[in-house]
Amino acid sequence: MTSSNIRPASDYPPGGDAFRHRHLIGIAQLTPWEISYVLDAAEEWVDLNRSGAAKHDDRLAGLTIINAFFENSTRTLLSFEIAGKRLGADVVNMHAAQSSVKKGETLIDTAMTLNAMRADAIVIRHGSSGAVQLIADKVDCPVLNAGDGRHEHPTQALLDALTMLGNEVRIVAPPTLTPPAIDRMHVTTFTDMDEGIRDADVVMMLRLQNERMDGAYLPSAREYHALYGLTPKRLEKAKPDAIVMHPGPMNRGVEIDSSVADDPLRSTITEQVEMGVAVRMACLDILTRRKRGVAGWN
Ligand code: CP
Repeated sequence: MTSSNIRPASDYPPGGDAFRHRHLIGIAQLTPWEISYVLDAAEEWVDLNRSGAAKHDDRLAGLTIINAFFENSTRTLLSFEIAGKRLGADVVNMHAAQSSVKKGETLIDTAMTLNAMRADAIVIRHGSSGAVQLIADKVDCPVLNAGDGRHEHPTQALLDALTMLGNEVRIVAPPTLTPPAIDRMHVTTFTDMDEGIRDADVVMMLRLQNERMDGAYLPSAREYHALYGLTPKRLEKAKPDAIVMHPGPMNRGVEIDSSVADDPLRSTITEQVEMGVAVRMACLDILTRRKRGVAGWN
């Protein structure tokens, strides 16, 4: 599917009105047309990435992007780095484990330090919900949220949408892991996995984020697998051509079996990674347009 599935009837507003935000903190703040705008821009990078031509686009030449990661990451960190480099930017990675954060420097002091280095965009992953907004309020350049705890991971949501777009969303989870605000999310909730995935077109598994589970959310990984794990047999409940997604990293044998994750006919997990580069290229391009003085982006 393509992003045209959710394009609103009207065309995008002109110039910077198509995407008014200085930062990308969360999907919740975006209008449907802003989401479509980013996805349409990303689609163009998908084609260019596949053809190899994107290596020659240097629209971000002379700009410095800092990836400040206070939590571990493979996909998000590397794809932001690749995205920035494919657009000609200088990309610098700051891993908290090797930084002065380890000496006790506060988040705000770290943010002010990055700001003083005149970064043109800062990409941040942090384990605390709201930490990215806190930094965005303090710095002069666009800030992109690369995942802030239990809050949002907007580029993951965008790349998932670029890989597939659906109209009806169901959430299947044990009650202990169902968000309290689920009633306001326009989704149907299930606690029974077999029931929840029946006749689905897309089954997206999510990682059990053990690092954020500070209580007894689940009896055991074994029991979670028995009740919610995506096995070949369970996948038979979905449509015969249903695709399987997972943002990674996977807990193989817990939320998803290897035989499902590695099934080339069903799994789109590596395609999600590919879409991640395109989405992040689009986000970096769009959010630096004001700085670059692109016409119409004041
Ligand atoms: N999906 C995701 O955010 O993966 P990383 O933690 O590897 O970035």
